[in-house]
Amino acid sequence: MCGIIGYSGHRPAVPLVLEGLRRLEYRGYDSSGLAYAQAGGLRVIRAPGKLGALEDRVASEPNLLATTGMGHTRWATHGLPVERNAHPHMDEGRTLALVHNGIIENFQEIRSELAAGGCRFQSDTDTEALACLIARERRSAPSLLEAFARALRRARGAYAVVMMAAEEPDTMYAARLSAPLLLGVGAGECFVASDIPAFLPYTREVVFLEDGEVARIHGSGWELLRLDDLAPLVRMPQHIAWDMQAAAKDGYKHFMLKEIMEQPRVVADCLSGRVAGGRVLLPELDNLPVPARLRVVACGTSYNAGLWARHLLEGQGGVPADVEIASEFRYRRPLLEPEECVLVISQSGETADTLAALRLARSRGCRVIGLCNVVGSSIAREADAVLYTQAGPEISVASTKAMCSQMALLVLLAIYYGQRRGLAGTESSALLDALHAVPVMLRENLPSLRETAARLARRFAGARSFFYLGRGPAYALAQEGALKLKELSYIHAEGYAAGEMKHGPIALVDPDFPSFVLALDDPFLPKVLSNIEQVQARQGKVIALMQRRPPGAPADAPVGALPSPEVDEPWYLPAAHPLTAAFLALPALQLFSYEMADYLGKDVDQPRNLAKSVTVE
Ligand code: M6R
Repeated sequence: MCGIIGYSGHRPAVPLVLEGLRRLEYRGYDSSGLAYAQAGGLRVIRAPGKLGALEDRVASEPNLLATTGMGHTRWATHGLPVERNAHPHMDEGRTLALVHNGIIENFQEIRSELAAGGCRFQSDTDTEALACLIARERRSAPSLLEAFARALRRARGAYAVVMMAAEEPDTMYAARLSAPLLLGVGAGECFVASDIPAFLPYTREVVFLEDGEVARIHGSGWELLRLDDLAPLVRMPQHIAWDMQAAAKDGYKHFMLKEIMEQPRVVADCLSGRVAGGRVLLPELDNLPVPARLRVVACGTSYNAGLWARHLLEGQGGVPADVEIASEFRYRRPLLEPEECVLVISQSGETADTLAALRLARSRGCRVIGLCNVVGSSIAREADAVLYTQAGPEISVASTKAMCSQMALLVLLAIYYGQRRGLAGTESSALLDALHAVPVMLRENLPSLRETAARLARRFAGARSFFYLGRGPAYALAQEGALKLKELSYIHAEGYAAGEMKHGPIALVDPDFPSFVLALDDPFLPKVLSNIEQVQARQGKVIALMQRRPPGAPADAPVGALPSPEVDEPWYLPAAHPLTAAFLALPALQLFSYEMADYLGKDVDQPRNLAKSVTVE
C-alpha cells in the first residue's frame, strides 16, 4: 500500500531517499514525506499529492548533509490524503518520527488512552498514535529500542514501520508484522525498504525481515532481534539477481507499455528449464502428492489468471479445481480437507487477503502452493512450496506481464499434474507446442496489436460503459479486459460470461453501449458468434477478437464452416492453437486499455485510488 525507504551510511541521505521514493511511488501516491536528523533534532518535510510536490519543497532546504534519513509514499487508509496525515509522523515532543505501511487495528484504543493522558494529536492516523505510544514508553524504558519494542508488542493488525529519533540520529529501528520490509546491505551503508527496487542501484544483498522481528540499522551495520524478548537473531543476506534495467522504463513512455512488450521474454523465461523430453519439470512440487482437489485463491488479475487456468487444471491435469476470491474465501469458513491443496496466486506475494487465505488453509492442515513473482515475499516464504513466475519487477500498478507469466506457469502445472496422473500424452504435447510458440507469436504480433488498439481506442473513447464477453477460458480474459479498462480509463466495464447476457444484462445494450467480445477459434466459437448476433440485433456495437483462417484450411475448420456475423470491428489475430491465441488476446486487451487511458490523458502507471500491493483489507 505505502512505500518506505530508509538509509544510513556515508552518502547524503535526502537525495537517496527521494530517489528510492520515486521507485516506490507505485505503492501509493496520495502524499509523501521524509525525515532526517538536523541540528540535534529531526527535520520532517511532507507534501500532499505526487512525489514532485515533496521534491519541490525539499529543493528549497539548505544544508542537506544528513547521512541518515527515511521517507514514505502514502496510500491513504486512515484520514484524508492531506499534508497533516502524510508520513513521517512525530510524537508531541518531536523527539521521534515514524513511517508506517499497514493498519494498526487497535489504534483507537491506543489513541483514547493517550488522549486521556493529555496527548494531543495532529493527524487522523493510526501511525501518529503509535509514534506517541513509543514516546510515552520511552519515559520508562531503559532504551529507545526497548520503548519501540514495548509499543509494537501492543499493536494489532499489520505494520511495517521505521523509526528515527533525535537521541540516536544515526540509527533507524524497523519492524514488521504482515507487511513487507527488507534490508539492503552495502559497504558501510544500510537500507531499509518495502521493496527491492528502492535500493537496487546500490546493493543486491538483501535481508528479509520476518513477522515479529526488529532491526537496528546504522551505517556501520545492522542487527536483527526478536520482538518478544529482544534476543539477537542470525541471518545471512541473500543475493538478488535483478538488475536496474529491469526496474527502469527503458525508453517506453510508461512502465505499463514496457511490461506489456516484455511478455515474449516473460513466457520464454517461464518455460526455460521447465520442459525436457516432452515432460514438465516442476521439482518444487515433486515431494507433494497430486491433490485430490485444488482450491485456487487470489485477488484481481491474479484471480483472473486462476479462473482462466481452471479449465486446463481440470481438463488436462485431471484435478478438480475451484477458483475463489481471497477476500471471500477467508471469511466464509470453507470446508477444507487435508488432502486438498490451496494454490495461492499473487504477483507481489504480499496481498493481505491472499496471505490470510494461505494462513487459513495451513491452519486447517492443507498444503499450500504459492505462485508468486516477488522472490522472498511473505506468501513465497509461508507456502509449503513456491513456483516463481520469474517475470521480473512489475512496476505499473495495472498488472500485465505478471498475468501472462501466471498463465504460462499454470499451463505447465496442469500438464505436470496430468503427467503425474498418467493422463494421455498427445494433448499435453500439443499444449506444450502451443506454449512454445507463444514468445515468437507475441514478438511478431505486438506491434500490430498496438496499432489496432490505438485506432479502436480513439473510435470508442466516448463510450461511458463497455461489456466484455467471452465463454470458457475466454470468460476469464473478458473479466481481465474489463478490469484493465476500469482501472486505467475509469470507464465503466463489466466482464460477463457471454451466455449470461440474455438473462438480464442485454437490456443495457444500445448504440452507445459497446461490447468487446472474445470470439477465439475454440469449441465455444459457434455459441459466441450467436451471442454477437444477439448484441448487434439490439444495435450494440461490437469489437470482436477473432482469428484468421489459414489459407487452404479444411472445410470443416470451425470458423470457415460457420456463417460469421458481420462484426462492426473484427480484430483479427493470427490462426493458432486456442492456447496460443489466449496469449495473444491478453495483450490485445491490455493494449486497448493502455491506449484508451493514454488517449484520455489518464495517469497510466499510477491510476487514481489504487496501489500496487494491497497489504490492507
Ligand atoms: O500482487 P497480487 O497479484 O496479489 O495483486 C492482486 C491484485 O491486487 C492486482 O492484480 C490488482 O487487481 C491489479 N491492479 C490489477 O491490474
